[in-house]
This record gives sequence, C-alpha cells and structure tokens, in this order.
Amino acid sequence: MRALMALAMAAATLVAAPAAARTLAASPAPSPAVQVTDGKPPFKWGVANSAFQVEGANEVDGRGPSIWDKWIADKYALPDGSPIDHYRLWERDVQVMKDLGISTYRFSLSWPRLLPTGRGAINQKAVDHYGKLLDALNDAGITPLVGLNHFDLPMALQEEYGGWVSPRVVDDFGAYAAAAFKALGGKAKHWLTLNEPKNMASLGYGIGVHAPFQKDPSGADQWAAAFHMLEGHAAAVKAFKKQNIKGGTVGIALDCEHVLPLDPDSQADKDAAQRYIDFRLGAFADPIWFGKWPDSVKERVPANILPAIPANLSSFFKDNKPETFYLNHYTTKVVWFKAGATNGYGDGAGEFGERYETADGKPLGPVGDSKWLYVYPQGLRATLNYVNKRYKPKDMVLSESGVDGPGESKLEGDAAIDDTFRTDYFKGYVQAAVDAVEKDKVPLSLYIGWSLLDGLEWQEGMTKRFGIVYTNEKKERIPKKSALWLATKLGPLTPGGGAPAPAAAKAPAP
Ligand code: GAL
Repeated sequence: MRALMALAMAAATLVAAPAAARTLAASPAPSPAVQVTDGKPPFKWGVANSAFQVEGANEVDGRGPSIWDKWIADKYALPDGSPIDHYRLWERDVQVMKDLGISTYRFSLSWPRLLPTGRGAINQKAVDHYGKLLDALNDAGITPLVGLNHFDLPMALQEEYGGWVSPRVVDDFGAYAAAAFKALGGKAKHWLTLNEPKNMASLGYGIGVHAPFQKDPSGADQWAAAFHMLEGHAAAVKAFKKQNIKGGTVGIALDCEHVLPLDPDSQADKDAAQRYIDFRLGAFADPIWFGKWPDSVKERVPANILPAIPANLSSFFKDNKPETFYLNHYTTKVVWFKAGATNGYGDGAGEFGERYETADGKPLGPVGDSKWLYVYPQGLRATLNYVNKRYKPKDMVLSESGVDGPGESKLEGDAAIDDTFRTDYFKGYVQAAVDAVEKDKVPLSLYIGWSLLDGLEWQEGMTKRFGIVYTNEKKERIPKKSALWLATKLGPLTPGGGAPAPAAAKAPAP
C-alpha cells in the first residue's frame, strides 16, 4: 500500500514537471501501448549494473586496485570510484527494486574486492558484503544473476603479466571463479562468467579506449585476449560444475548489434554484414556453441594471430553448451564491403565499413547521448531471431538493453526523472521483444534493462546516464518515468500506480 501511494505521488510529480524540462530531444517514434495477446508481456523483467560502474568505495574493506581506478581518478577526480556508492548504499537499491516489482537483479562481483591481488586468500569482508546483498535480494523475492567479471581486472595481474593477453590469466580466473562459487554459491544460483568479451578484448587490447588502454593495430593482442577469455570461461564453467550448485546455471553475456547491408542488393555488402556478426558475436558464440571459430574469422585472420582452438577445448564446449543464451543488444549499424578496411575494432581482416545512415543518408533513428546508440527497435527482433536460429538455445535472456537520453546528464531534480527519450526507447524495444516471442517463437524468458542506476560510463565517466533510477545530490534513489513505465508494463504494478516516490528509496545507510 505504502509503495502504491508513493507511486501515485511520483506520477503526480512527473505530470507537474514543466513542459520544457520534460522534452529532452527528438524521441524515438512513440508506440503508446505494447500489444500483447494476453495482457502482460511473456517474459519477466530485470535490471543490471556492474561493480566498477556503481560500487565506489574503491579503498574500503581491503579492495585492491583495478585496472580502471587510476585512470578514472586522474581524469575525473574520482579517487573513491563511482559516486553512486552502491557498495555503501545497497539497501536503498534493493528497496527501490522491490518497490518496482523487479524480478531479477544482474550485478557483477568485483574481482579486486574479493581477491585484492588477483589470486590467493579471499577477502572475507568482501564475501560478507556480497553475502548481505544476496540475502537481501533473496528476502525481497528478487533473483540474483551474478557476474564474475564486467570489464574489470585486478591491477596486480595487469602489472604482473599483462592481464588477458597472457595465458597465465586463465588459471587465475578459474581459481577466482571457484572461490566465488564456493563463497557465494549457496546464496546465488545463476551466474555469468564474462561480460562482452569481444569489447573487453578489442577496446582494452586492440584500439585501447578501455582499460588497460593498450593499442595493438596488428590485432594480435586482442585475439590473444579473446582466446584467453574463451579459455577462462571454460575454466569457470568447470569450477561451476565442480561446485554442484543445486538448480544452478552458468552462462556468458555476449553482445551484438543488428546489421543492415548498405546496398541490400549487393552480395559483397551482404557478406560484409554477415562478417561483422561473425567477428563480433560469432567469435565467441561459435566456439562456445560449436567448438570452432566462424569460417570467415578462420579464413581471414592470419594464422599467426588467431590462436587455434585445441581439440580438448572444442569438445569441452560442445559437451557443455550453456542452457541460456545471454545477449546484450542496444543498436543497429549499416555495414558495407570495404577492401582493406582497418575498422575501429582492429578487425581489419573483416573488411567492412560501419555507419548509422542508410544509403539515402538518413539516420537509422534518433540517437542517444552516446553517438554509437541509434534507436532501431526492429533490430532487436532481428537479432533475437538470428541467435535463436543459429544457436537454437533452450532459453534466451536479453541481458542488457537501454539508452542514454541526449543532454540528460546535465539535468537535475524533476527534469532528470522525466526521461521521455528512454521511455520511448523501452516502448519500442519491449514491443520488438514481445513480437519476437509471440510471432517468431523466440524462447526469451527475461528482459534486463540497462541499467538500474546511472553509473560510471567507463571512459566517459559520469557524463552519460543509462539508469532508470536517478540518484540525487543526497544520493537518494528516485525512479524515472521509464522505471514507472517498465514497472507497470512488465512488473506486477498496475497502470496508474506509478513509481515509488523518493521516500521509498531512503533506506538508512549501512
Ligand atoms: C555495455 C556494457 C555496460 C554499459 C553499456 C552502455 O557494453 O556492458 O557496462 O556500459 O554498454 O554503454
């Protein structure tokens, strides 16, 4: 009852916001009501965040340095890490999720918090922290989906042997996974090993725009890192099976855009579009589902750069296919054949160009605050279908989907929660997911919105906001209009109920 009254108050606040503040920019084409055959969408909803993006408390309770700490501290003057402070204020975050009726919380553990130097004895204070968070989630009826790694790595391992480019990381990651499953597997059944390994490899060790900021135009380091991530994933899956968590599942979150050929009649452009998917999604999904690199990757990446997948790893993957395909999807691109292209991911061998305008020069849709994020909901439906057809998973989860509204990061107060752009994004993307399930029979069971809170957006710092919940200067958690829409559309709340008022999210600081 309290939550419902609070919901109505927040809705009233939104209505009262001045019109100028409510309009952020050209919004995605509105699709006012999601059409579903039986009233509610046929999947549950969840939200996500990752450790480094929201925890903060970088030097609290014995956490060791991560590869992002110094860079973020120097560039954005954030020595404590994320000002969102989820490590200290997690009770508020559980409360707001409870009020919104969220079914699943996807979050990641911080490897340098659990193992401050990357290996060795586990940090009991970190175990206690995550244990309390998991207990609170379970008590609130929110299913935890726990990631071992989300773009983060103990600095000690980067300094000692170069992080993911070294084969030594495989054993360390496997041992970390085993320690995490042992310490927390009694409280969490569902786990993810890595998040977007392709981005971790190419952004971190190819074009060098993510930590550890290493550039290698030859592509050798990024393919070595990618291969060690595949081996690390296998090591973690082995550790998971050993732990034998009753009803437990383990997967990996892979990302892929939808891709349109620039000239739909050109075979060369169509082939380039397929190569784009092979190089980004297939480079991980094919080894994990089929035990081999995609043909185009094998044919095009020089043999001295592309590590061979050994027979024992290949058969391990074939015998241990994940039950669930976790897909992160945000946007769509237009791709064409570009001879000798060295594109932004150090994947020159793919020979494709990338843009966001169709052949007539028109953008694919409205663009978010991030200039790589064009709103194109039908791309989600197409990607869900592509994954379903190619990999035939028993179950699929959209493990990330969301947007940052243009100009949003400068807004405060009522204006910051009136996120029409994001609400319209979700209206389109949820409808696309509903159509994929109801019309195309894609086995999607869960839609995870990125993100719960406005986190540290990696190299962009706090200049981009993806959250459906706003954090004000008092660090209170205030649901935005998009949270309200998602809660009524996908959760148990009824239309007109609204979203929780700030008061609902002011649990005492621990
Ligand atoms: C994903 C990443 C998230 C978040 C999001 C929005 O690639 O997993 O951590 O940053 O993009 O940019």
